[in-house]
Amino acid sequence: MATQPAQVSDIPPHVPAELVADFDAYHPILADEDYQTAFSRLNDAAIPDIFWSPYNGGHWVLKRRDHIMEAFADPERFTSRNGVSVDSRFQANMGLRPRLIPIEEDPPRQQVYRKLFASAFTAVRVKDLEKDARSLAIELIDEIAPRGRCEFVTEFAQHLPIRIFMRMLGLPEEDRLRLLPLAAKQVQASADKGAAMAELAQYIGQRVTERRAAPGSDLISHIATAQVEGDLIRIEDAVGVCLLLLIGGLDTVATMMSQIMWFLAQRPEHRHALLADENLLPNAIEEFLRRFSLTNPARSAARDMDFHGVAMRAGDMVMLSTPTGAVDTTIYADPLTVDFARKSPTKATFGAGPHVCPGSMLARAEIKVMLQEWLKRIPDFGLDPEARPKITTGVNITVDSLPLSW
Ligand code: HEM
Repeated sequence: MATQPAQVSDIPPHVPAELVADFDAYHPILADEDYQTAFSRLNDAAIPDIFWSPYNGGHWVLKRRDHIMEAFADPERFTSRNGVSVDSRFQANMGLRPRLIPIEEDPPRQQVYRKLFASAFTAVRVKDLEKDARSLAIELIDEIAPRGRCEFVTEFAQHLPIRIFMRMLGLPEEDRLRLLPLAAKQVQASADKGAAMAELAQYIGQRVTERRAAPGSDLISHIATAQVEGDLIRIEDAVGVCLLLLIGGLDTVATMMSQIMWFLAQRPEHRHALLADENLLPNAIEEFLRRFSLTNPARSAARDMDFHGVAMRAGDMVMLSTPTGAVDTTIYADPLTVDFARKSPTKATFGAGPHVCPGSMLARAEIKVMLQEWLKRIPDFGLDPEARPKITTGVNITVDSLPLSW
């Protein structure tokens, strides 16, 4: 696993000692446990439901799913304007990229920008994109299958979200090869991640400028020529919106797929159940999405306030840890077990409230395509005994490499 040194901060005077817990959400894993297992340790009754972590700049952690959902849904108390990760203040690439819109805005402005891409996520549009993802998935698997092994992340998982992004925005197919390595650096642990982000922003900036001058009927043209509160959208805001559509749907989807395949590689009984009964698929996807929840977004307290008995100060960073919400034992019995028959109640995986993930149906479609087409062609597979999977943890878990063989 790739690690960076933890940043440990002094405890602010308003945080009582009994609410401090020694938990670094960016480096949570002990030994060979999996990501969500690490977060499930927070169910320990000795750890308060809302605690202060001194790591990554110092921040509150909400460990109960219902508190997490409440904070997502309340931008008046929990604002996105100071960044949506607890360490936003320290991010080296902040100056290298435009502001990500609408995620780094609060309503009502956030809703104005969000409407700019609403047409890309309708049920009809998702069906179209699913068809496209399916033909690419079949092409990739047919190429991989005879080899008996693959590195799943680079040879399969990243390709689908990139293709979807290009189709969604109306980018030319020949640019795919230029974008793939830059996008791969976003997905994988990489020293030049910041520079790759700047290059992606530059590429998108060029397309935005071109389409603003000569608009077509595609989504970039629509965003590049939009009126926002009575004025033509600023170029950097149009770039921020398009960049977020790429980043939001790239390593989230690639890592979710990779975690599912990592699990299935070791669980023949789950693979066989899915092959034996296609009707299990919708529930299985919901259960995978819960069990492998992967993002740790944040907000900051908009004012001094009491939240469920805890005194927060304006500006305190608050982590809404979706993997913690996914394994909350007050909601989910035996939460680390993948149970396709589980009646999966609301989950925090895609957030909630005004920023709830607009790509959740698309992500489900991509996962469905992967499971259907892969299991049909490569029903039995395992972890490659000659190479180990690699992950990086941070704001999200990222699966960097998943060697499979069959
Ligand atoms: C399994 C895959 C995915 C996961 C786990 C995921 C997770 C999330 C979460 C938790 C949020 C809310 C963040 C917050 O409130 O701070 C979010 C927002 C967002 N996601 Fe996703 N996402 C996924 C797939 C996608 C896809 C496929 C796209 C687009 C192609 C996408 C685009 C976005 C955008 C644009 C936002 C910001 C919305 C706003 O601020 O109004 N996501 N996602």
